[in-house]
Amino acid sequence: MPDVNIAVVVGSNRRASINRKLASALAKLADRKLAVNFVRIDDLPMYSQDLEVPLPASVARLKAEIERADAVLFVTPEHNRSIPAVLKNAIDWAARPHGRNSWAAKPAAIIGASPGTIGTAVAQQHLRQVLGNLGALVMGGEAYIAYKPELIDDADVITDAGTRSFLQAFVDRFKAKASKARQAQSRVKMLEKMRPVAALVREEVREISFPAPEKMLSPPIIAVDNVSVGYDPARPVLRRVTLRIDNDDRIALLGANGNGKSTLVKLLADRLKPFSGTITRAEKLAIAYFAQHQLDELNEDASPYDHIRKLMGEAPEAKVRARAGAIGFSGKAADTKAGSLSGGEKARLLLGLATFYGPNMIILDEPTNHLDIDSRAALAEAINEFPGAVIMVSHDRYLIEACADRLWVVADGAVTSFEGDLDEYRRDVLSARSRADADVARNGKADKPERPKVEKRGSLKQRIANAEAEIARISEIIAKIDTALALPDIFTRDPKQAAQLSMARANAATALERAEEEWLEASSQFDEAGL
Ligand SMILES: Cc1cc2nc3c(=O)[nH]c(=O)nc-3n(C[C@H](O)[C@H](O)[C@H](O)COP(=O)(O)O)c2cc1C
Repeated sequence: MPDVNIAVVVGSNRRASINRKLASALAKLADRKLAVNFVRIDDLPMYSQDLEVPLPASVARLKAEIERADAVLFVTPEHNRSIPAVLKNAIDWAARPHGRNSWAAKPAAIIGASPGTIGTAVAQQHLRQVLGNLGALVMGGEAYIAYKPELIDDADVITDAGTRSFLQAFVDRFKAKASKARQAQSRVKMLEKMRPVAALVREEVREISFPAPEKMLSPPIIAVDNVSVGYDPARPVLRRVTLRIDNDDRIALLGANGNGKSTLVKLLADRLKPFSGTITRAEKLAIAYFAQHQLDELNEDASPYDHIRKLMGEAPEAKVRARAGAIGFSGKAADTKAGSLSGGEKARLLLGLATFYGPNMIILDEPTNHLDIDSRAALAEAINEFPGAVIMVSHDRYLIEACADRLWVVADGAVTSFEGDLDEYRRDVLSARSRADADVARNGKADKPERPKVEKRGSLKQRIANAEAEIARISEIIAKIDTALALPDIFTRDPKQAAQLSMARANAATALERAEEEWLEASSQFDEAGL
């Protein structure tokens, strides 16, 4: 199935429309991960409120197609310095009936062609305003195409190299926007699915919250251009890294251990300088960094109160205690020595200290290793509510699915954006592995030199350990749900909660099956390899 569904609305019903031709040429520039659907607007009646009940079939279809799409591309001419009536008619219809606006929060982009050089600029301004009022999220930047018949050939291919590369960049940017929206949507669904587990079974969960940055910075907050970085200039760990991070990004770094995730994190956190290339940070960018190994760096003899006091100078005790309470250490808990805190409590304390001043970006390196299930859910909610950027390195599938809207793969010395979801990533990794294994079986050697045995052993062991941790985590969830479901009369007393719990149990059981499959597969590879 393709990743992202784009609805294309052409603002012209003319048979030989140059805008329809441009739209077809744009569809050709999209890769196979984009499914493009041309939405009909020529069969809509002229809008009148009298026609709203019952909704005409063509309108219901239009609304369904817009709502199903991850984003909408408008390709429109200009008519008398505004948008064509046929397009305005379609926009009005899809915004109706009252309370059922199909454009709300829909990512959109606008482009248009006209024979004149400045054509469509005014129409695009009007369209931007109309869509903005309706709550659509219109992509920035401007794209006016001065159309000459020879610009697009009979096969709908753009003949001019300059225009083609401009339009390719436009399509790529739009695709990134649309797939981000899709990821965000599946994140919401994931949270909805998981929330019953955390919210229904917990006795009392302490919240986690990250203070918002004082000021939002102008994007990008970090731009990395052609950077090589590592520990030995003769053998950089990562090469030719080019990427950008924006204010509200939620990025998960994927890739086997030892491939350079930590190196990338250190580069972003300004703990490693590039050997070549440039890295530009927004002025006054404040970064919070949390890594599991820092747990050992806490002063064992100092309490949470002492740790926070250090950050608050001369502030009165009540204020320090209020901050301690805000990060989960109210009352006596604030005076417990760090040495006596559990792993999870230490992690909460460190998260609170690292983000104390309201950073613009938070880097979390395996943040959930010491957290129990409820604290993981609390962390996921805190990440989702935080208005700044978050970079996560984590083996915790739940955390990534609940929080990340971009996946970056760090492998073979490079950082690449992965367009699919976690399941697709896992399938890709597994099929690449079995292809490599098949090559070994056929040729007696792999296309690439085989990795040293000890490393292969390490990565398989890591997979097995991760799967085991996942199995333990999900089993714990199932046990909690079962305890809640075993309460006498829960089904009569609170049928809604009982139904939610049953659903959560079914989801958890599916997740458990998946983790067990992964464990079996990694274990059998480990055995077969005679390691
Ligand atoms: C009613 C009408 C009004 C037009 N007004 C404008 C205009 O304001 N600005 C402009 O650049 N072109 C204008 N044009 C010319 C169009 O750009 C040209 O007809 C173009 O081919 C329309 O796009 P289409 O082929 O996709 O229908 C107008 C054309 C019509 C029929």
